[in-house]
Amino acid sequence: MPLLESRPELELVVWPEDRACDRSWLLENIPGATGVIVMLTDKVNPELLDKAGPSLRVVSTMSVGYEHVDLAAAAQRGLKVGYTPDVLTDAVADLSVMLALMAGRNGGIGVSLVQNGEWPNFSWAPFGFCGPQLSTTAASPTRKIGFLGFGRIAQATLARLVPFGITHCLYSSNPSSPPNHQRDTDLAKKYNLKAVSKVNVDELARESDVLFVLAPGGQGTYHVINEGLLRKMKKTSILVNASRGTLVDSDALAKALKEGWIWGAGLDVVEGEPNVTIDHPLVKEPRCVIVPHIASATLETRRDMATRAAQNLVAAILGGDMPAQVDL
Ligand code: DGY
Repeated sequence: MPLLESRPELELVVWPEDRACDRSWLLENIPGATGVIVMLTDKVNPELLDKAGPSLRVVSTMSVGYEHVDLAAAAQRGLKVGYTPDVLTDAVADLSVMLALMAGRNGGIGVSLVQNGEWPNFSWAPFGFCGPQLSTTAASPTRKIGFLGFGRIAQATLARLVPFGITHCLYSSNPSSPPNHQRDTDLAKKYNLKAVSKVNVDELARESDVLFVLAPGGQGTYHVINEGLLRKMKKTSILVNASRGTLVDSDALAKALKEGWIWGAGLDVVEGEPNVTIDHPLVKEPRCVIVPHIASATLETRRDMATRAAQNLVAAILGGDMPAQVDL
């Protein structure tokens, strides 16, 4: 806000609450706007763009994901679209590791048991609450970490896992992007790993001890984690999703957890969020740790995302280069 307010040439119309903007308010207030800052909860579709009218020149989203923006409709109207990559990479990578640990080590079960006053019913037991260990041990010296999507956030997550002694990094990414052998060799050398390899999704599912889903949302990745793939995973494996809920078929994942095809799951995002209530099949699964889409929610990162969104907007309106513009 200070950045926007420091530009006297801008007339600001601001949704005043710290929650997703009511659609009706947005539709009412957007006509005649030159630019708009939106959140990932705002659908930027022809309805909204037509309401804005021909004055609109820029859409700036305060998110790295932009599947809520109809890019074809934006391009057709000659709009610029800004987003907020880089600034949230570390916060999301931090939380991804937290979810892997929480899911593997029965974190969700343990926290709710203590909060429900049930600890006195569970004395320390030799094999009580045991789960698969993320760090390697002398008896278990191999850990294969998989990434569905191998962009900035996945690579930052990999960097955080190196001190756990992981040995292999496998990833699957957009089939149309060519393998980057040199980058993979460099990463393996830098982190002292046995290999960093691009594999197909079946191999990724079969081999990963922890599988991190960190790919963009949208049609192309819809339910890429489905029953067929979950059935291929190891019984001791963990699935982490910190990208978009649409990548994971929730019913299939709930079945996988209930029937023990995999060990646990850590989710920052769930399809259909925020309508995820206590009767949701995943919420009912004790080994599914779910947090409400908070991967980027650190004070530092959200300020940086807001600043980047404002910078994108101002640059596009005043005719400069946006710090982070989506290629349309
Ligand atoms: C994004 O920016 O797309 C993230 O999902 C927000 O945490």
